[in-house]
Parts: sequence; structure tokens; C-alpha cells
Amino acid sequence: MSADLQKRIAGEAAAELVETGMVVGLGTGSTAAWFVKALAARGLSDIRGVPTSTATEALALELGLKLTSLDEVQHIDLTVDGADEIGPGLSLIKGGGAALLREKLVWEASARCVVIADAAKSVPVLGAFPLPIEVVAFGHKTTLIRLNEALRACGLDVTPRLRVKDGQMVATDGGNLIYDAACGAIPDPARLAEALKRVTGVVDHGLFLGLADEALIGQDAGVERLAL
Ligand code: A5P
Repeated sequence: MSADLQKRIAGEAAAELVETGMVVGLGTGSTAAWFVKALAARGLSDIRGVPTSTATEALALELGLKLTSLDEVQHIDLTVDGADEIGPGLSLIKGGGAALLREKLVWEASARCVVIADAAKSVPVLGAFPLPIEVVAFGHKTTLIRLNEALRACGLDVTPRLRVKDGQMVATDGGNLIYDAACGAIPDPARLAEALKRVTGVVDHGLFLGLADEALIGQDAGVERLAL
């Protein structure tokens, strides 16, 4: 089964978790897009989605889903989103699609968070996927100096690289920039998460720790469910 089909069956399984009346966090990325499509196809009445990016917002509107915003609802019943890596204890790396800040805001406001992914996203140790770190554009090169110090203090000898696409710095929906830290392996994600948050200029990072309640992973044999 292709990775895309694995993403699709995971997204479709997650759509079955949504019940009428729910406020639903809509993740970002190719796996979350399968969820959004499957959710729209169910035709449930009285559900409202909170999109985690302008891209997801556009897709959901095109499919006829009713949307609201985090500021209107403040509480979300269920959020479904993809991930770049799923490690031990449902620790995650997210932000490959540059939506990590809005994603984390929506996840933290959610009663239940379900991560959906293809099988290749499950890893024994986080860090092979470069960790996205969102920084404010103002003074980002000096922020990088402090970021390097924070990473060294955590035993990680890596210099994050500014994310560039088509020759342009990638800007998030909030107008910030992304640095990607190719750590290789992150032996102590909690320590790194704390260290990164203390760096002035860092808005957030793609480590999602203690946020996912369960995972639905598309495997060749079907959807595997992992719960804490
Ligand atoms: C978006 O910023 C990310 O957190 C995505 O959820 C993550 O990159 C997974 O994307 P795919 O579902 O496209 O693999």
C-alpha cells in the first residue's frame, strides 16, 4: 500500500470519530487533508471546524464545511492532525508544513487530539526529521546564535537552517520564519523543548509532547490504533 493510501485510510478512520455538534480542529498537511475530505463526505450537520492554516481553511471552505475560529469557541472537542514523526509515548515532531504554531494553539485548546499518519512516521527516537523552529523575522540571525547555544547546551551539535522555498524565505501564516534543526536524534525531547522556549525570538517549536491522546496509523493491513 502506498504512503498516500495509508494516509487516506488513517484520515478516513479519524473522520468516523466526529459526532454531530462537535467543534473539530482541522490539521494541516497531506494526511490532514484526507481527514478533512472524509469529514466533509460524511455530511454531518452542526459541526464546526477550526482550521490550523490558511491552506486547510481554503480546503474546508471548498468542501462546504462550516468553520469557526479559536477565538470564537476557545474549546475544541476533537482535533485531528498529521505529524512528521511519532515517537515513544506519542511524542511528535510537527511543522513540516510550517503550521506548527497554529497547530499547537489548536491542539492545546482541544479535549482530545488524534494524530494520523502513514506507517513511515513511526520512529523509535525523534529527530531524524529536522525539527522546525518558528522564529520572529526581526533579528532572526541573532536569534539563530542563541538557538545554537541552546542546542549545544542540550548536547546537540547542529546549526538550524533557515527554510527557503523557490529562493524565498518561507513565511508562516503568522508572518514568522522557520529554522529546521537536523538533530539526527533527540535523546531528551522535553529538555530540548524547554530550552528552545527560553530563547528570545523563538515563537515555538515542532515538538508536541504530552499533547496527542491517540494515533491512527495507516498500515498495509489496516489502521493501527495507538493510545496512551
Ligand atoms: C504541518 O505544519 C505539519 O505539522 C503536518 O501535520 C506534518 O508536516 C505532516 O504532514 P503530512 O501529513 O503532509 O505528512
